[in-house]
Amino acid sequence: MDVVVVGSVNADLVVRVGRRPAPGETVMGSDLDTFPGGKGANQAVAAARLGADVALLARTGTDQYGARLVAGLAAEGVGVEHVMETEGASGVALITVDAEGDNSIIVSPGANARLTPADVAAAGDLVSGAAVVSLMLEIPLDTVMAAARAARRAVLNASPPRELPGELLALADPLVVNEHEAAFLLGAASAAPVSEPAGMARALLALGPRSVVITLGADGAVVAEPPTAGSPGFADAAAGVPAAAPGRVAAQGDGALGRPAGAVVTMVPSPVVDAVDTTGAGDAFTGALAWRLALGDNLPEAAGFAAEVGAAAVRKEGAQSSYPRGEEL
Ligand code: RIB
Ligand code: NA
Repeated sequence: MDVVVVGSVNADLVVRVGRRPAPGETVMGSDLDTFPGGKGANQAVAAARLGADVALLARTGTDQYGARLVAGLAAEGVGVEHVMETEGASGVALITVDAEGDNSIIVSPGANARLTPADVAAAGDLVSGAAVVSLMLEIPLDTVMAAARAARRAVLNASPPRELPGELLALADPLVVNEHEAAFLLGAASAAPVSEPAGMARALLALGPRSVVITLGADGAVVAEPPTAGSPGFADAAAGVPAAAPGRVAAQGDGALGRPAGAVVTMVPSPVVDAVDTTGAGDAFTGALAWRLALGDNLPEAAGFAAEVGAAAVRKEGAQSSYPRGEEL
């Protein structure tokens, strides 16, 4: 397998609203749309549509959504042999999308909460054999940890954000977050506040992940990696002098974890698009990134490709329903 996703599957119940209700208030919205979603399933479908060989390790419920969600994943070409059924409700996401295409989401975990480290172990070499294992935080943290430990390379989208044990952070290669999630993780670690993206990426790298990607919506993404003798900009990074290559800046770090001081920071652009619905754009980014890393891209290359996939995803409604196929890019 190129990519194995260990993660969540949700039914997305979506209503468009002019504005969101305040506490105690009622507002009228659009008719209800039901879409396949869940950050794990979304990553898997994003990769599958691009041509990846991808499988999902997950749990769905015995309610009206479970079987349909699994059938939909199979139809997308995602390997569902390791999607197991749990008595009770499936994961459900209650989503409002406003006039700007921005979403707010409440996730009811359902069967996703029953995905255990034992499930990871029972899948045998599925996880350890994958080129890249892609993870997110809609399943129990100890299951994420078990998968990350078994993985050859773990991509971790820290969404929805929560405090992460140092061991998990240290396995993330890369840690993928948006700006809100970056601020949350830096706040949780009592890091000095930083507002500009390159500085945030550097500060996150100093928390211990092997590499960092912050997605910036229309502004693309920023990548931070520890300098290695082989990486472009190494000499500049070590000297704390901006590198000559366009889009690449180098900066001094604190040499955390015995690494050479410094970080190689690369700004990755995004195509400009009209946003219709940003739901799941980060998952599309992460799934595409995982696939390109599995194929051997370096991180800035993979992030550049993933930014194109994420931009395509915001142009249409829904999460998976908006993901591009390879030939559409
Ligand atoms: O990231 C978008 C996803 O978050 C939605 O598909 C929803 O299911 C929630 O998990
Ligand atoms: Na979308």
